[in-house]
Amino acid sequence: MTIVVTGGAGFIGSNFVLDWLQFRDEPVVNVDKLTYAGNLGNLISLKDDHRHIFVRGDISDTALISRLLSEHLPRVIVNFAAESHVDRSIQGPGDFIDTNVVGTFRLLETARSFWTSLPDAQKSGFRFLHVSTDEVFGSLSHDAAPFDETSRYEPNSPYSASKAASDHLVRAYHHTYGLPVLTTNCSNNYGPYHFPEKLIPLCIHNALAGKPLPIYGDGQQIRDWLYVKDHCSAIMRVVDDGVVGETYNIGGWNEMANLEVVKSLCRILDELKPRSDGRSFAEQITFVKDRPGHDRRYAINAHKIENELGWRPTETFQSGLRKTIQWFLDNQAWVDDVTSGGYLRWIEKQYGSGLDR
Ligand code: NAD
Ligand code: TYD
Repeated sequence: MTIVVTGGAGFIGSNFVLDWLQFRDEPVVNVDKLTYAGNLGNLISLKDDHRHIFVRGDISDTALISRLLSEHLPRVIVNFAAESHVDRSIQGPGDFIDTNVVGTFRLLETARSFWTSLPDAQKSGFRFLHVSTDEVFGSLSHDAAPFDETSRYEPNSPYSASKAASDHLVRAYHHTYGLPVLTTNCSNNYGPYHFPEKLIPLCIHNALAGKPLPIYGDGQQIRDWLYVKDHCSAIMRVVDDGVVGETYNIGGWNEMANLEVVKSLCRILDELKPRSDGRSFAEQITFVKDRPGHDRRYAINAHKIENELGWRPTETFQSGLRKTIQWFLDNQAWVDDVTSGGYLRWIEKQYGSGLDR
């Protein structure tokens, strides 16, 4: 059998593809548009692995996806493809609507038509897993109970609104057409291959480059942090045993204010790669203008996936953060390639500006 992964050259998708092929022997067809966030350098260790079939393509391209589905007959589609950065969605929401809303809709349509054509035995085993975020639930007050699977959708940014729309479409395709869907809503990930526009990799990079560590507003916004490998293992559990039509919240049981996250990061860096002047990286922390509409707190109640599927994260925030920082220290060439734009020039050389069709 085969699985199709979309967005598998991005941060979480590439970790998922690497882990899938490490733990299982089932080939992966990886469809990724290679936007600025897609980086084939993340998958370089698979370059001679015939189980990884990479296709540069858009989830909105019905003809391409349809051809890939009939060629490879996957038993599962895992949809990671998305525009994912809140700040970019504030600057320019258009791409978020195109990929997260229209793209998911087109992918669902293509998947539905493929699934409908399958013989009964394959039809009942097929799964469409949609990877979503806790941000669809909006912002929590300090003492409110964490989000569970019944929490109301109250998205506040163009990013979270576009993801909420995609979740609703996925739900509707199950209720209306019977498409065997699963949805996961996860908290903030961090770990290897994290694009350095997001808080943790940006601060690791800036700290080492002697630049300011920008904290939005008062830095007291709270997020739940999950090590990316734990997210990947949770998705595998849901692929294997998730109940069709259900949603699963995935979290790290690690609520923390942004300022505390950056201070922890500085303490670990002080130990692993001390500044040459002997002072702490924390001295580089700089408070900057807040993000418009900045959500104050996200928190996840991940009891359902634990009770029903037996999944719990293995990393604490401290152990996961240490691994992440060590990974960035050991992979400076990857960071340089991303920050210099080298990976984009490589994509241009390899593919021109075109997509596979
Ligand atoms: P990312 O931005 O690092 O990667 C997204 C990938 O999707 C990139 O490789 C990009 O090239 C690809 N892509 C974008 N548009 C595409 C299109 N139209 N067709 C095909 N490929 C396309 O994102 P990420 O952080 O890896 O997030 C993956 C998924 O997980 C997203 O759906 C995101 O909403 C969700 N999620 C992320 C987090 C997080 O903390 N990063 C948390 C919860 C949920
Ligand atoms: P981010 O990594 O962009 O993820 P998200 O917005 O999806 O949660 O941001 C995490 C938190 O860190 C969020 O509250 C915004 C804050 N933040 C900063 O304070 N400074 C920064 O430079 C960035 C990128 C984020």
